Amino acid sequence: MNNPQMVLIVDFGAQYTQLIARRVREAHVYCEVVPYFTPLDEIAGWHPIGIILSGGPASVLDEDAPRVDPGLYALGVPVLGICYGMQLTAHLLGGTVERAGQREYGPVPVRFDTRCPLFADMPEESVCWMSHTYHVTQAPQGFISTARSDNCAFCAMADEERRLYAVQFHPEVTHTQYGRQLLSNFLTHICGAAGDWTMSTFIDRAVEAIRQRVGEEDHVLLGLSGGVDSSVAAALIARAIGSRLTCVYVDHGFMRAGETETVKDVFTRIFPVNLVAVDAGERFLGRLKGICDPEEKRKRIGAEFVACFADEARRLENVRFLAQGTIYPDVIESGSVKGSAVIKSHHNVGGLPDDVASRFTGGLVEPLRMLFKDEVRSLGEALGLPEELVWRQPFPGPGLAIRVMGEVTADKLAVVRASDAILREEMAAAGLTRSVSQYFTVLTDTLSVGVMGDECTRENVLALRAVTTDDFMTVDWARLPWELLSRISERIVNEVPHVNRIVYDITTKPPATVEWE
Ligand code: XMP
Repeated sequence: MNNPQMVLIVDFGAQYTQLIARRVREAHVYCEVVPYFTPLDEIAGWHPIGIILSGGPASVLDEDAPRVDPGLYALGVPVLGICYGMQLTAHLLGGTVERAGQREYGPVPVRFDTRCPLFADMPEESVCWMSHTYHVTQAPQGFISTARSDNCAFCAMADEERRLYAVQFHPEVTHTQYGRQLLSNFLTHICGAAGDWTMSTFIDRAVEAIRQRVGEEDHVLLGLSGGVDSSVAAALIARAIGSRLTCVYVDHGFMRAGETETVKDVFTRIFPVNLVAVDAGERFLGRLKGICDPEEKRKRIGAEFVACFADEARRLENVRFLAQGTIYPDVIESGSVKGSAVIKSHHNVGGLPDDVASRFTGGLVEPLRMLFKDEVRSLGEALGLPEELVWRQPFPGPGLAIRVMGEVTADKLAVVRASDAILREEMAAAGLTRSVSQYFTVLTDTLSVGVMGDECTRENVLALRAVTTDDFMTVDWARLPWELLSRISERIVNEVPHVNRIVYDITTKPPATVEWE
């Protein structure tokens, strides 16, 4: 097996820890994040080429402050402490940490000793992002100050002989002008990283790890939603254990045109797993009869989904492991420092019944736990998943059911599904599928009057929504070209029965949300 160089990031609960991991990966160096209480022999056992100590909200002066075994500094492995990581290093090695006269927060000009390899190819002064209440006032023996600001004599310190480095500011955030350079200096000049980590090294390692975890006989169950994360997880696990992976795909009948067919094709032909596809459209539609409230729809769909999945799981023998497409941002959300692996609740398989959950005596298999979304997509491509799966736009768990406003019926679903398919085709033809973050149609519950031939019609207004965003917390509406909007509108009214009026949603979030329900 390929054993790539790896950097360990020891997490003290900082909000920026995932950014550190991201920056290291961007430098093509493999890294993993471990909680601060990881035993020293386990840390040594990873054979890291470097260790980064993250920031954190605590004060090292508190009695119960999170710490590491000071033996970490004697492993002979280069260490970079960041913020709390710097204070902890000073504290554990005999320096002094004190409460600063004034809390320092925001951009601060810092002067560097550029003879230090950590600051190679950086100007002597640049702006760094600070966020701290405590600072080092005396460095431990062997360390010297390597950067200072007007307020702080120890913006950075180093013991070159032992290859121990620390910075008070945050090199991982973009507000620190030369932050990337600094991290890259640490990795390359100090840790000797080759910067050759690629997805194929990740695949080899992950496949080996899955095989070891699951063993020769046991089976793994995975709930396949058709989304990027569960599809990539399935493909990776299939690479490791083939048809000992059972994927349950619950088709709730609210998928977009062609999606179910793609999932079935990919996981029978390209990645042959034991695919159980449940056609539950009628069952779900029945549960939504007469229901208009969006939250009630979501609740019922979620509960029904779990029930369907659980029914299938009960039928399977020998399945000791439950796999999930949990990705790194989900891990962070659920608090990696506490090491908790919770079942992804905002997705469909939230809260499995006890009798089902207790079958998974082997535990969870989450091979994407350490990956960011863009890395998951690269992995999907490297594994050979089709582009339409890998680059699929976000799609809500309850699917088209929340894009039919009010009561969901088969007829209304057909209108949304057909109009959505035309919109997607035209967006693809215009080359906009990656620059526009999400786009879809909504069948409103507002009736409008139209005319067709000599006939007067009354139909529900159809809305088009297309948004751009980085994080879906705030969004802008996409400035689609007029000609494109015109073509989409013409095609939908001509090809989809029961559409006589189309509007384009030109609201940002906030105040609107992305979805209409
Ligand atoms: P909103 O409408 O909250 O959407 O601005 C933000 C993002 O979340 C998606 N979304 C959902 N995803 N279950 C999901 O899995 C849901 O109930 C749900 N509601 C909204 C939405 O499509 C957008 O990407």
